[in-house]
Amino acid sequence: MTFHDANGSRTMRIGILGTGAMAAALGGAWVRAGHEVMVGGRNAASAAATAVRIGAAAHGCLAETARYGEAILLAVPADSAPQLARELAADLAGRTVLDCTVPMQPTSDGGPVLSTAGGTDSAALRIASAAPHAHVAKVFGVCHESIWTVPQPTFEGAPLAVPFCTDAPPADAVTRKLITSMGCTPLPCGGLERAALLEAAAVFAIGVWWSGSEVRHVFPAPALAPGAVDD
Ligand SMILES: NC(=O)c1ccc[n+]([C@@H]2O[C@H](COP(=O)([O-])OP(=O)(O)OC[C@H]3O[C@@H](n4cnc5c(N)ncnc54)[C@H](OP(=O)(O)O)[C@@H]3O)[C@@H](O)[C@H]2O)c1
Repeated sequence: MTFHDANGSRTMRIGILGTGAMAAALGGAWVRAGHEVMVGGRNAASAAATAVRIGAAAHGCLAETARYGEAILLAVPADSAPQLARELAADLAGRTVLDCTVPMQPTSDGGPVLSTAGGTDSAALRIASAAPHAHVAKVFGVCHESIWTVPQPTFEGAPLAVPFCTDAPPADAVTRKLITSMGCTPLPCGGLERAALLEAAAVFAIGVWWSGSEVRHVFPAPALAPGAVDD
C-alpha cells in the first residue's frame, strides 16, 4: 500500500514489531518523513504508549501490525526475532521485513561478542528462513538508536550512509526509498549472506563505544593521510 504526501513523494505504511527504543526512534523518524506507522507489541499498553509518543497512526497486536503495510520493522531482541518471524510468517508473506537486530552477548571482560544462539550464520538469515515468503533486508542496526532521533541526520557535512543487505528486489526498492525519505543515503552492501558482516560490525562498534573510544576514529579515509596520492 502506498500513498503520496502533499509534495507528491511516495509514502508508505510501516508496521513496527516491538515498542522499545528502536521502535520509538525509527518510528519517530518515519512519522516525521510522512509515513503511516503502526506500532505493535505483545503488551497493548506499551504499544499504545509508544504510538502516542511518536505520533503513529495506529497501534495494535503483533499479528495485525505484521499485516499493516508493505514494510515491517522487527525491533525485538535478535534471539527472539526468528521465532517471532516464524509465528507471523503468513502475515509477513510478500512484505519487506526490515531486520535491525544485533545478535550480541556480553563477555566477562565487558566487550560484547556475537550471539550464536540459534546458529552461526546471522540473525537475518535465520529470520529469512523462518519467514520464507517475506522479503528480508538487514538494515538500521549499525547506529545507536539516538541517531534516528536527529532530523535529516548529517554528520561532518555528509548525510548519514545507511548500509543494507538483501537478496530481494522488492526489499531493495522499499529500503532505498525509506532511507532516502529520512534524508540519508542508501549504501547497498550485497545479498543477505553479507548480513553477518553488518551484525559483526555493529557488535564491534558497540565494543569500541563501551571502551570509551570513537568508532569514527578507527576508520579515517585514506584520502586524509598526509602524502596521499591519487592513482
Ligand atoms: N537500542 C539501540 O541503540 C539499537 C541499535 C541497533 C540495533 N538495535 C537492535 O534493535 C532491536 C530492539 O532493540 P531496542 O533497543 O529497541 O530494545 P528494547 O528497548 O529492549 O525493546 C525491545 C522490544 O522487543 C519486545 N520483545 C522482546 N521479546 C519479544 C518477543 N519474544 N516477542 C515480541 N516482542 C518482544 C519488547 O517487548 P516487552 O516490552 O513486552 O518486553 C520490547 O517492545 C534489538 O535486536 C537490538 O539489538 C538496537
